[in-house]
Amino acid sequence: MNKILVTGGTGYIGSHTVVELMESGYEVIIIDNLSNSQIEVLDGIEKITGRRPEFEKIDLCEKETVENFFNRNRVDGIIHFAALKAVGESVEKPLEYYHNNLESLIILLQEAKKRKISSFVFSSSCTVYGQPDKLPVTEDAPVKQALSPYGNTKQISEEIIRDAIKTIPTLKAISLRYFNPVGAHKSALIGELPVGVPLNLVPFLTQSAAGIRDKLKVWGNDYDTPDGTPIRDYIYVVDLAKAHVKAVERLLNNKEIPQYEVFNLGTGKGNSVMEIINTFEKATGMKVNYDIKGRREGDIVQVWADTRYANKILGWKADTPLSEVLASAWNWEKKLRNLK
Ligand code: NAD
Ligand code: WQD
Repeated sequence: MNKILVTGGTGYIGSHTVVELMESGYEVIIIDNLSNSQIEVLDGIEKITGRRPEFEKIDLCEKETVENFFNRNRVDGIIHFAALKAVGESVEKPLEYYHNNLESLIILLQEAKKRKISSFVFSSSCTVYGQPDKLPVTEDAPVKQALSPYGNTKQISEEIIRDAIKTIPTLKAISLRYFNPVGAHKSALIGELPVGVPLNLVPFLTQSAAGIRDKLKVWGNDYDTPDGTPIRDYIYVVDLAKAHVKAVERLLNNKEIPQYEVFNLGTGKGNSVMEIINTFEKATGMKVNYDIKGRREGDIVQVWADTRYANKILGWKADTPLSEVLASAWNWEKKLRNLK
């Protein structure tokens, strides 16, 4: 059985990926420092899969601790989710973001080299495209000037991987550029756990519907889009998780692939903020109270993925209907708040 190290595995996307890996027969060991997740996530994973993944509370920026981990554990592949991810906070604390997100990556790549680990999957983001000139955006679209230190850590990380891997003949890597991950596992045993007031649309919307937040603020309806609200590619987190299993399989089993590849992970379809609100209302029977406000600084107008490359090469497609995805987010919120 292949053993995969999942960093950030108690986090939102990591936990869903751990479930999919375990259900596909992989052995999983998680490293997380629990800076943005809770240890109880392991209970949810255990309830879903019937097994508890191994877990070590480690800060990936502590080089000696990470070295010690690899002295004790043999792994076949690494999926590296661990990162700080709050765009606004990264503007306030740029050095913390650069340190955390880049140092952890460098230390892991050094270990991958030393231990001759064959496979490395990295969590990148559609944020590297900024506002693309052409839609849907393809992987070869130019990387635009980052709008935040967080976004810049993703751009720099991709460059670090691309450069480093040339000197590590034993290693192959895939960067996955996620669009907007949303929703929760259908069991409602794991899901997104935002700290404080959510800045992202769907967690704010579900918390607002649950009555623990005020009205949703729609940041602008005067954009050049059909209904005036911005458009994103909202991808179900479980579909996203499944793409990681495909990526790991490709890296572990396929000798002839390029040493480094980049894939968009989205649905290929864009939805506006108003479409999200309307679909949520239809899917859940809940009423969303909202006010139209001015534009949010730094927001791009619209982006959605060209997913043909991932569809063809990874043999993967995100196909969960949006209504089901938003219902899963609501079920998770209800479970968290003990609502009927
Ligand atoms: P998350 O915050 O839920 O998970 C990240 C996990 O990494 C957390 O559990 C946190 O405790 C851990 N972590 C952070 N720094 C660490 C360190 N130094 N050592 C050990 N553990 C550490 O975030 P997520 O939404 O699951 O995102 C996972 C990855 O996907 C991140 O790299 C993020 O940048 C990327 N991404 C997320 C989105 C999104 O909208 N959620 C979109 C694109 C890309
Ligand atoms: C979606 C749409 C908002 C909240 C961010 C990061 C990006 C990536 C994913 C990691 C926008 C609107 C939102 C609200 C609203 N993360 N909105 N009211 O901005 O696409 O991307 O998360 O890599 O880097 O920037 O996602 O969910 O914040 O916003 O009207 O209360 O919802 O204006 O149009 P975004 P989001």
